[in-house]
Amino acid sequence: MINPISLVKSYYEKAKELNLKYFDAAVLCTSRDNIPDGRNVLIKEITENGFIFYTNYNSKKGKDLELNPHACIVFYWQDLGIQIRIRGKVEKVENQKSIEYFRTRPKGSQISAYISKQSEELESYEKLVEIFEEYSKTFKDREVEKPEDWGGYILIPSEIEIWEEKPYRLHKRVLYYLDGNIWKMKYLYP
Ligand SMILES: Cc1cc2nc3c(=O)[nH]c(=O)nc-3n(C[C@H](O)[C@H](O)[C@H](O)COP(=O)(O)O)c2cc1C
Repeated sequence: MINPISLVKSYYEKAKELNLKYFDAAVLCTSRDNIPDGRNVLIKEITENGFIFYTNYNSKKGKDLELNPHACIVFYWQDLGIQIRIRGKVEKVENQKSIEYFRTRPKGSQISAYISKQSEELESYEKLVEIFEEYSKTFKDREVEKPEDWGGYILIPSEIEIWEEKPYRLHKRVLYYLDGNIWKMKYLYP
């Protein structure tokens, strides 16, 4: 049986080769107290175990995931005619991995992660720019350290559905699901 994580990776690589803008964006859905929420994140890496994204652990999504690690991500590549829906559970990645990834980011992005109390109320947009400028001076000749509350999550899938656009709306849907440790598959009506 084909490993559906590698299959997702092959579509992801194809979208990257085609230079599609935000080829790595996926909608991340979380749910807290049975109230769902969704937003885009960038899936920076696909490993044999799952899908890695980075964020602020104290953000709304971080708090949702703390209380309920069940989540899903949805990719849609219009130019490929492919939607991929991935359900599973998230775990934080090792801090060292987040540190290493943080170091690869442009300095401006590092500063913006450093100053952002993501999802908290901000008195005005001008205030954010002001703080950014202040910290750009502070870090002019210094390395920006990864903030404690910033890091990665890995979504470890238990179900992956690949939807492929076909003529006459006879779209092809294949659901891969874990049965114990074994990936199985079935077709679904579109
Ligand atoms: C294309 C795109 C990619 C994004 N990537 C990320 C990301 O990788 N990490 C992140 O924290 N926010 C990312 N954002 C912003 C989130 O969608 C969201 O606004 C923010 O994380 C706050 O979400 P929350 O309040 O639900 O935690 C992205 C937004 C867009 C439109």
